[in-house]
Amino acid sequence: MGIENLIAELKTKEDFESYWDFRRNDDRSHVHSLLKYPAVMVPGMQGEIFDLILKHDPTIKNVLDPFMGSGTVLIEAMIRGLDIKGIDINPLAYLTVLAKTQLYHEGDIKIKINELIQRIDSLREKDTDLFSFTGINKWYTSEVLSDLSKIRLSILQEPDVVYRRFFWVAFAEIAKQADNSRTSTFKLHIKLDSVINESRFDCIQSFRKKIFSNLNAISEFNNLRKEAENQLYYGDSRIILNDKRSFPENSIDLIITSPPYGDNTTTITYGQYSILPLRWIPLTDINELVDEEVIKSLSKIDKDSLGGTNYHLDLLCHSDVMQSSPHLKNFIEKLLLDKETEKARKVASFILDFSEVLQSLCKVVKQGKLLVFTVGNRQVHKSEFPLHLVLKELAEAYGLTTLYDFRRNIVKNRNYVDTTKQGFKTINKETIMIFQKP
Ligand SMILES: C[S@@+](CC[C@H](N)C(=O)[O-])C[C@H]1O[C@@H](n2cnc3c(N)ncnc32)[C@H](O)[C@@H]1O
Repeated sequence: MGIENLIAELKTKEDFESYWDFRRNDDRSHVHSLLKYPAVMVPGMQGEIFDLILKHDPTIKNVLDPFMGSGTVLIEAMIRGLDIKGIDINPLAYLTVLAKTQLYHEGDIKIKINELIQRIDSLREKDTDLFSFTGINKWYTSEVLSDLSKIRLSILQEPDVVYRRFFWVAFAEIAKQADNSRTSTFKLHIKLDSVINESRFDCIQSFRKKIFSNLNAISEFNNLRKEAENQLYYGDSRIILNDKRSFPENSIDLIITSPPYGDNTTTITYGQYSILPLRWIPLTDINELVDEEVIKSLSKIDKDSLGGTNYHLDLLCHSDVMQSSPHLKNFIEKLLLDKETEKARKVASFILDFSEVLQSLCKVVKQGKLLVFTVGNRQVHKSEFPLHLVLKELAEAYGLTTLYDFRRNIVKNRNYVDTTKQGFKTINKETIMIFQKP
């Protein structure tokens, strides 16, 4: 593989200021626009990373993203004809990637959409049963509840789960836009009564618009995608990557991912962001492994995600990660010195969880092949937590070689959910780290 050439080419890009910011092309076109998901990567930028790597190693056939989110990396991989493997613990992320990667016959899907719209229209003026779950009246006005219930009923009448999934993704977007939560945060905070009382949202009209725009997205993607295999997994990467049948050692040609940058609760609550739409959708339509427990509480998905469990300080202090990463050790010691024990536990617990995935990734990737991580450094107790350096130290401790890294500015994009309004306000740069398994 022309690794030296790849690095030389990456270096030339850095001569152009802000090259990797991708202000020139930060579009979320075709299926990238199917559903808004927090903290998505820039498709054009990930695409360019693929192109550079493939140019220097045309033998790459498959790619793995163990934290696939809404699938930005995997969709760019499919456009380049690579087989994809993806994992996510959030059922909404998994459903979205399923719907995006499914190959639809355009004529059939148009018929299915028209039938669905007819069913919805026929219910429009009728009284139908209102759907219900705990707290539903808090999160939706009565008009919205009535409209969403009609759309839901109409989707359920579609016999083929493949099309239902496509419909649920559009439904999820509308259920998200129509709820009574503030848009300024991914956490569920209720809007002021006065704002709720004034709000008018035509769910049926918005759904119709969304489903046709998603249809266009699919048609566009059909012209871009190449024939490729895809294997998507719902669940915890810490567990799934250990399954040798799905992930034999030395089986993956390329890993590209953007992991969470800390525990969900203090960074991005992917779970809470997704929970209301998920409560409307029959979980068996997503995956038979999704347990009802997952949607009962607002915080279960976030607690199940990396860093969601706070381990005992003793265990953390004696863990391998603390020995392998001096930057982590220093950071934790400073927090403890400032009597910030809980924060120290949170940071170290997240890294301990993340290290499990990292070790598995080192096993499944083939020798000589690359692992590309996009990571950001968040603020903890008013200091920047150097995740990129901790990642480098751990990766090297697990036998990887650091090849190259570069930084980019995160440019705010109107199409993205605004991460700057969360605890993320201080993250305006991210680092792309490239490792090789020797
Ligand atoms: C930064 S997002 C990925 C964004 C994605 N790269 C994109 O561009 O759309 C991180 C993802 O990691 C997932 N995640 C967190 N803990 C996980 C775990 N233990 N196993 C699998 N996925 C996990 C979250 O649900 C979230 O979707």
